[in-house]
Amino acid sequence: MLIKMRFFKAASVSGGLLGLFLIPACNNEVRQSVKDIEIWPQVSSPVRDTDAVGKKVEDLLARMTVEEKVGQIMQAEIQAITPEEARIYHIGSILNGGGSTPHRKKNATAADWLAMADAFYKASVTPDGGAAIPIIWGTDAVHGHGNVIGATLFPHNIGLGAARNPELIRQIGVATASEVRATGIDWVFAPTLAVAQNDRWGRSYESYSEDPELVRVYAAAMVKGLQGEPGTQAFLSDQRVIATAKHFLADGGTAGGDDQGDARISERELVEIHNPGYPAAIEAGVQTVMASFSSWNGEKLHGHKYLLTDVLKGRMGFDGFVVGDWNGHGQLPGCTNASCPQAINAGIDLLMVTHDWKAMIENTLAQVRSGEISMARLDDAVRRILRVKVRAGLFDGKSPSERVGNRSAVGNSRHRALARQAVRESLVLLKNSNKLLPLSPRQTILVAGDGADNISKQAGGWSVTWQGTDTTNQDFPGATSIYKGISDAVESAGGKAVLSADGEYPADLKPDVAIVVYGEDPYAEGQGDITTLEFEPRLKNNLALLKKFTAQGIPTVSLFISGRPLWVNPELNASDAFVALWLPGSEGAGVADVIVADKDGNPRYDFKGRLSFSWPRTPLQEVLNPHHPNYDPLFRLGYGLTYASGEEGPTELLEDVDGVDAGSADDIPLYAGRPLEPWRVFITNHERSQILSGAFAALPEQDVVIRTSDKDTQEDALTVSWQNAQLAGLFFHQGRPLDLSRYLVEGAVVFDLKIDRPPTDELKLVMQCGSGCERELPLTETVRRGAGKGWRTVTVRLSCLARETDTFEQVTGPFSLQSSGKGQVSVANIRFVMNTETNVDCPD
Ligand code: BGC
Ligand code: BGC
Repeated sequence: MLIKMRFFKAASVSGGLLGLFLIPACNNEVRQSVKDIEIWPQVSSPVRDTDAVGKKVEDLLARMTVEEKVGQIMQAEIQAITPEEARIYHIGSILNGGGSTPHRKKNATAADWLAMADAFYKASVTPDGGAAIPIIWGTDAVHGHGNVIGATLFPHNIGLGAARNPELIRQIGVATASEVRATGIDWVFAPTLAVAQNDRWGRSYESYSEDPELVRVYAAAMVKGLQGEPGTQAFLSDQRVIATAKHFLADGGTAGGDDQGDARISERELVEIHNPGYPAAIEAGVQTVMASFSSWNGEKLHGHKYLLTDVLKGRMGFDGFVVGDWNGHGQLPGCTNASCPQAINAGIDLLMVTHDWKAMIENTLAQVRSGEISMARLDDAVRRILRVKVRAGLFDGKSPSERVGNRSAVGNSRHRALARQAVRESLVLLKNSNKLLPLSPRQTILVAGDGADNISKQAGGWSVTWQGTDTTNQDFPGATSIYKGISDAVESAGGKAVLSADGEYPADLKPDVAIVVYGEDPYAEGQGDITTLEFEPRLKNNLALLKKFTAQGIPTVSLFISGRPLWVNPELNASDAFVALWLPGSEGAGVADVIVADKDGNPRYDFKGRLSFSWPRTPLQEVLNPHHPNYDPLFRLGYGLTYASGEEGPTELLEDVDGVDAGSADDIPLYAGRPLEPWRVFITNHERSQILSGAFAALPEQDVVIRTSDKDTQEDALTVSWQNAQLAGLFFHQGRPLDLSRYLVEGAVVFDLKIDRPPTDELKLVMQCGSGCERELPLTETVRRGAGKGWRTVTVRLSCLARETDTFEQVTGPFSLQSSGKGQVSVANIRFVMNTETNVDCPD
């Protein structure tokens, strides 16, 4: 067996770093941060405090010790702190991160949440002497109360943007607030006011629009919905919550659409494109702002005094508090998750310190005592937090369960009806040849595609789990799948809807029409960053499904689930009708409301949705916004067909355009922050296998364990540990074989590897290359040279794995790392590339 491996410095070849090379070192015109405060809008908050509010805050502040003050500016994660600890350390705030539930109980009921909220509240108001300051709990209710099982899940923001209905947005805010209050929580980390400019960004769907004007209008509507209108009884009443405008600033403006990246833009662009939601939110009374993980011209927002203090709190008159993002402070130069005077000094008032709060308190105390953080700055931070707590009624002497608003709010039918309306209004009709839609319910309709009866997929990220993965329909009680909605509408009119995810159907059932529901699988944050806008590059499984129907003369409807516009010209061509659904959430019936006609064939509802993001003409048009030069989309911002207009949309679209299979023409990624579709990660030995679910997988013996770990960003790597194990390891698998024959000639498998603890037995790279074909390669030399050296990129030519007669046309398991005994390795960025660097022979 011949072996060939080469090490590169990780940064020189590893995935996602292309940008490093493409960006000019310093473009003075753009990069100069002029800092011209005059160009920022001057606004003020309409929230008027009574004298009592100010007095209460000052009285408290005067009585607080420095320990109490420092504790007050800390926010810990609920899995990392107990109520008793919160009491002892005077913690000001807690949060539950994405997918984090009381006592890690996925099925936690509203009562479980309330009980936890009460426990923290009670602890906070019974201090050992000192001031009794109620703790405040924040949660990501970014499309409804997503972490709570059974909550109403509204369409994600991109879909709401398409609805272009500010009053609807306000009502969604009201409904969300009431569900959150029913669980005892006072504060939500929403709305996201990102104006996403690059659709490769994994958080594009959290953005209402690429159009700043739409974001501006929605910002005000959502803040008023969540918090209530300032100056009215509703404002921060028992039925409302505190809102967060996030992520300040230009999270949607980073180069390459990189999550947590760098916005290399002028101050003018910052003001005109990315800022408009913030003054609108401030004028609607927003009480908190979250700092962005991202940077502006190389300077992280968490340390940006000019933007946080001078612009936001000064010029724009924001008198609430600024919360940091999840350990965002730890990313500042010179900081760690447990120490960061820079962030506090720059203007972060509450640190989302999550786990390291104890050490952070200790360090911050020392920094205050040494004067590195001034008492004036600490007082200002505490004053802002207290002011918001007083305004929100936290000091009214009632526990969360005594101010719960409507106890039965979670997932109630009124909210679901509202969400269903939002689904109807958010759908955008891109194509409707021969007026195929609306479908008569008096026919036989085949409903195919992996999104048809898949609530996880229609809900997207921030739904029960952080990434929105690892859930089944049972995890969404009360929700309706898209298929179920269609079936209800069709069957009540005497027709028939047949569910068949793979599109197979019995010979005696000839469908009159086929609906295929497909699109992106759930993701959140950086794990959703992509390198090309092409949908299913190379694989085109859904295209094949569509073509199967068209070949049989069956008219086809594409219902496309996605968190952003993607290049789908081949799929558009293979569909008679095509609807962009975005990420509709829990109320799938809203889709049938529009696409299925009444008994007489008349539409029950017309399409209202109009694109809130421009739709690309090529996979390369990742930056495609009306204010950019050479704006040439396939469908413009605002596009959307209606039944009333009778327009049918495009006929034949070009499929052979620039960038097809490009960007990564020769790159087949398997794992980039997460297993990419359609790959699944398993842990296997010769007897059994277990799918990696969420962040963890183990075989029953627990002698081999896989966990997600951090390489460049959170949870972008996989760590495998062997503990006195039989031969076992990590294994990538999918249903459909992959043709790697081209790569056998001149390609390689490339991955980043870290040898945490050198395996006592041989570490092997293994490939399942079809029936009776399993090839392996010992990585002895790689392990020896890599031990203790941190991350290195490993390149293995495929020919080093192959035998002479191998074709690699039917690869079912393209990547596996196996060992036995003891040891631990981590792996990330696994991909096949057409390689030019492998001109060295495989060593013996
Ligand atoms: C948490 C999320 C958080 C993320 C930060 C996850 O572990 O569950 O809430 O947003 O880390 O990147
Ligand atoms: C996200 C925020 C979120 C926070 C808490 C972060 O990773 O960027 O949007 O509010 O986690 O879950």
